[in-house]
Amino acid sequence: RFEQSLRPQMLGQYIGQERIKHNLGIFIEAAKGREECLDHVLLYGPPGLGKTTLASVIANEMGVNFRTTSGPAIERPGDLAAIVSSLEPGDVLFIDEIHRLSRAVEEVLYPAMEDFSLDIIVGKGPEARSIRLDLPPFTLIGATTRAGSLSAPLRDRFGVPLRLDYYDRGSLAEIVVRSAEIFGAPIDRDAAEELAMRSRGTPRIANRLLKRVRDYAQVRGNGSITLESAQEALEMLQVDSHGLDSIDHKLLTSMIERFRGGPVGLDTIAASIGEESATIEDVYEPYLLQIGFLQRTPRGRVATHAAYEHFGIDMPEERKKE
Ligand code: ADE
Repeated sequence: RFEQSLRPQMLGQYIGQERIKHNLGIFIEAAKGREECLDHVLLYGPPGLGKTTLASVIANEMGVNFRTTSGPAIERPGDLAAIVSSLEPGDVLFIDEIHRLSRAVEEVLYPAMEDFSLDIIVGKGPEARSIRLDLPPFTLIGATTRAGSLSAPLRDRFGVPLRLDYYDRGSLAEIVVRSAEIFGAPIDRDAAEELAMRSRGTPRIANRLLKRVRDYAQVRGNGSITLESAQEALEMLQVDSHGLDSIDHKLLTSMIERFRGGPVGLDTIAASIGEESATIEDVYEPYLLQIGFLQRTPRGRVATHAAYEHFGIDMPEERKKE
């Protein structure tokens, strides 16, 4: 698919996350030098920051197959056994949403990760016995938005845990320029910067907005993306100057208007705006925390001065003292 071509293939094409790229580069070169597979890697952080992309880059750099699955897709131990026993030596097995593996599947995964072996039970009742299957050595790359939900024994089995962070504006602008080039859509530097500023530090959002801005420039202009057409398109999409969308708005304004800015519990906010608590916690809250619009306190979530200012609402007197 066309979408696929936006993804960088090699570390050298991957923009941003400099420390991670640097460290990975060394671990990859060392493993290749010893003709071993790379140690298991855990990628964690907010959604849309390139965990899957980075995993495929690792496979490309190691020169091995990239096999993908996800926590919810592996329902029973037998499903996992079928996957790992079909790997070729050195392959990368990518498990997205790895925090959603069941306990029973995790139990099978431990010896597979540690000793490249599978203990499977065959037969039933008194006939049942365990047989041990040797597996080809492989690299497991797990991805999760919530490293805290991983069981400690699973977390401890990853030799290379890496936390992806929000991208800075410069890296995002570079990604936008690169993607626009792949689309064959001319874009002005200031338009790319504007998109970067409004993408919540997230390449997936930057690329999505770029596509819509490109649609707008094509229909309303001559196809070339200028600052003006980008701003008009972003307004049409209800993306504000900080990149906050209508759900971020609903979240913050409901905290401010219905709960006096908090503290208010996550589940209460979620119910009041009709979103799931987990979606708010994993998708919306991390960026609002990062830009200082939201704080977590022991008594609940609080909207900050900066949030009130952004929405042009006066803070209640008693809250100003905090
Ligand atoms: N497209 C999406 N994320 C990217 C990244 N980190 N580098 C280059 N292109 C990308």
